[in-house]
Amino acid sequence: MSWQATILTLFPEMFPGPLGHSLAGRALRDGVWGLEAIDIRGFATDRHRSVDDTPCGGGAGMVLRPDVVDAAIGAALAAGPARPALVMTPRGVPLSQTRVRALAEGPGAILLCGRFEGIDQRVIEARGLEEISIGDYVLSGGEPAAMVLLDACIRLLPGVMGAAASAEEESFSQGLLEYPHYTRPTEWQGRAVPPVLLSGHHAEIARWRRAEAERITRERRPDLWAKLHPDAAGAGAMDG
Ligand code: ADE
Repeated sequence: MSWQATILTLFPEMFPGPLGHSLAGRALRDGVWGLEAIDIRGFATDRHRSVDDTPCGGGAGMVLRPDVVDAAIGAALAAGPARPALVMTPRGVPLSQTRVRALAEGPGAILLCGRFEGIDQRVIEARGLEEISIGDYVLSGGEPAAMVLLDACIRLLPGVMGAAASAEEESFSQGLLEYPHYTRPTEWQGRAVPPVLLSGHHAEIARWRRAEAERITRERRPDLWAKLHPDAAGAGAMDG
C-alpha cells in the first residue's frame, strides 16, 4: 500500500495543484503516493448544504460545524488505512522536519483544511486532531499549508528524490542551514567561485562548507544556533 493522503477541504479542485508537477507529480502518477481530496460540503445535512455557522459568544467570521467535520473525517478513515489526522491552522504546533519525517515513515495522513475563523473545538478534541501551523503568518485557508506539508513528506518517500534529498535533509536535521552553492562559469560578472571549491581538496572543502553553514545559521537563525550551543546563548553575533 502506497503512502495515502486524504484532504478534507471546501475546495477539492485546488488539488493536486502544484503537487501534480515535478517530482511529487511523477511520484503520484507512479503510485508512490495516493491523493484523495474530499469535499467537506458533501457531508452537510440541511437543504442549504451549510457547513459553518456564526461563532458562539459572537464575533466576526464563521466556524466549521463539528457534525459536518466529524462525518467527513469518518469517511476519510473509512476510505483508507488508519492514519494521523491533522488540522492546518496558524494556531497549531509549528511543523518541523522531525514531524515531517515521522509522517513520511507512516502510512500517510488525513489533512483537514480550515477556512473561515476556525473549526468547532469539540470535533478537534473528539477526533484527537493534531493542530499544525506552517509558520507565523495567516493564510486565507489551510489548503496551501496542506500542500506544503505534503510536499515535505513526499520528497522523503523511497525513490522520490534519492541521494540529494537525504544529504540535504541530513544537514538540516543536524540543525544547520545549508552552505552556499556554486557552479560554472567559475567567474561571472566579476564574481569568482570561492577558490577552495576548485582546489580538489576534499577535507578543506568540507571544512569551508561547515564554516559557511555555521556562519549563515548564526546570522539568520540565532534560535537554531542557540539550540546547538546552549552555553553561548545570547552571544550569537559576538562569537566567531
Ligand atoms: N491556515 C491559515 N494559516 C495557516 C498557517 N500559517 N499554517 C497552517 N494553516 C494555516
